[in-house]
Amino acid sequence: MCGISGIVHSENIGRNLFNSIRNLEYRGYDSCGMAMLQQGALDLRKNVGGIDEVNAVEKLDQMQGSIGIAHTRWATHGGVTQENAHPHLSADNKFAIVHNGIISNYQQIRERLQGQGVVFESLTDTEVFVNLLEESYAEFNDLEQAFLAALAQIEGSFSIVMLSAYDPDHLYCVKKESPLLLGLGDGCNYVGSDLNAFLEYTRQAIVLDDGEYVVLGQQDYRIRKLQTRELVEKTVLQIDWDLETSKKGGFSHYMLKEIFDEPQTLRQAMKIPLEQISTIAEMIAGAPHCYLMGVGTTYYVASISQYYFSNLADRYYPALSSDEFSVVSVESGDMVLALSQSGETYDTKTSLEYAQKKGAQTAAVVNVMGSTISMMVDQVIMQGSGPEICVVSTKAALAQTFIMIRVALELGRLKSQFTQKIYEGHQTDLEGFSTLVEQVLNEQSGFVRNIARSTSHVEHWLFLGCGVYYPVATESALKMKEVTYQHAEGMPAGFLKHGTLSMVEPSLHCLFFVPPPEQKNLHDRTLIAMEQVKTRGGTVIGIMFQGDQRAQAAASQAIQLPRVSKLCAPLLQMIIAQMFSYYAALDLGRNIDKPRNLAKSVTVG
Ligand code: F6R
Repeated sequence: MCGISGIVHSENIGRNLFNSIRNLEYRGYDSCGMAMLQQGALDLRKNVGGIDEVNAVEKLDQMQGSIGIAHTRWATHGGVTQENAHPHLSADNKFAIVHNGIISNYQQIRERLQGQGVVFESLTDTEVFVNLLEESYAEFNDLEQAFLAALAQIEGSFSIVMLSAYDPDHLYCVKKESPLLLGLGDGCNYVGSDLNAFLEYTRQAIVLDDGEYVVLGQQDYRIRKLQTRELVEKTVLQIDWDLETSKKGGFSHYMLKEIFDEPQTLRQAMKIPLEQISTIAEMIAGAPHCYLMGVGTTYYVASISQYYFSNLADRYYPALSSDEFSVVSVESGDMVLALSQSGETYDTKTSLEYAQKKGAQTAAVVNVMGSTISMMVDQVIMQGSGPEICVVSTKAALAQTFIMIRVALELGRLKSQFTQKIYEGHQTDLEGFSTLVEQVLNEQSGFVRNIARSTSHVEHWLFLGCGVYYPVATESALKMKEVTYQHAEGMPAGFLKHGTLSMVEPSLHCLFFVPPPEQKNLHDRTLIAMEQVKTRGGTVIGIMFQGDQRAQAAASQAIQLPRVSKLCAPLLQMIIAQMFSYYAALDLGRNIDKPRNLAKSVTVG
């Protein structure tokens, strides 16, 4: 949430700095700005709106200088105004900072500074810190000391980058519970709140740990511990993300492009070495209790996984939303398996900390290398899905689900739930799935588009499924809400008759996730619910598999998918539902890649 970028170079970096916050725009897009040092003075430009909108007015990309900082914001403290946008300047115009996170004691510092005559332009906690810097510098007349002295006065979780007219050669950066990474270039260095800040310029990265600060120069960097000032040696990571995967590549939106990335994402997920999958399966097998955890889409991924663990390994593990995880009385030795695309989600991170304090073992499936969650757990699986730029998660969620199926399958094997032959059959199904997805995406997209178009006016949806198709329905309903702003409620199909049926009338559209007919029990139950809606005059739409005449007869519109294994069938429906939401949002003219009020990675509670 919110994107930070900084560059120290020997050449003009205006354009590059602007590009870097454009690449971070998915982290926040209600306002943005840049500050650069030009001939000893700070040039600050910022405004409300998306990056291109602000650039049209402020000409950010034409700013001059070889050192600068930039920020794209998702408002937390203070509304969306030009004053509240970052960077913030000190009253004497000698310091500029960009900041992510929260300074929890900012109010009392603000009052103290106001008492000394400091006039604040914004309502942000950030402006308080930049004025603390001015005050500290007046005392120490040394920039590093002033930075540390100001930091010693603030509480909360934050990452900050400071640029000062007193030092034209260095940026001063600090990380505490909010991500910050360095990028090491050739004759230039970068800092960013995630890899996308500098992936276009370098693949060498250093992940900062909590309580570390950096003095970052064009050719040099010094990383020290805040507490002791001791120098820290860090590992330089080689980032293997393919740059092209973070580009739109001819698609009109990242969301569509990322849906079309899914075959490749599945192949990557299949390439994750079996030992990594087995290690997690063994940890689960050895633990007295296991909990699956995520929030938003990743909670639904956990919920889908719950069914796979049950079916393949005959084990029931509760799925919990990270923001409600504190209800669990975790005990020493228990296992918590978390899912997080960004690896930075506050709710998931704090719940993992809670579990670790109680002595639980932790593991996670994460997409972003070097992210906080990936570093804090005992065991991590890097899903390798490549950058997911659209705020709405598609390919990352799909890959996580696929990886969880692999874990459930290994656990089943460990517990001798099936023969080697059946195990191999499942493996073959998983291996062949990406090719089928490729075919389905190409063949179905026009058809899905037409149905989405004909129903995009619908304001209220029920998304219904039985068994594992129930969490598939809830995840798909979240996709629909996020990207179209229309109301969609996910529900077990069998639940309908216990109350919600009273809402049924022609304008209420029900999207059913129909299992293959060979899953007779689930199929029958779904069909009963479809009939219940149809009989009462509701509109029934079905995502189903070819040859399912009963389901076709019950639905007024049907999306028919090729037959696929029982293991992969729910995933195929999940993909189609992503596409369905995309096309509905397209028809409604929504801001698809950056839906209103949302940000990609939610690092606040
Ligand atoms: C929905 C979506 C969010 C995230 C949630 C957790 O499309 O993307 O609901 O799933 O904010 O984020 P991560 O996976 O980064 O922990």
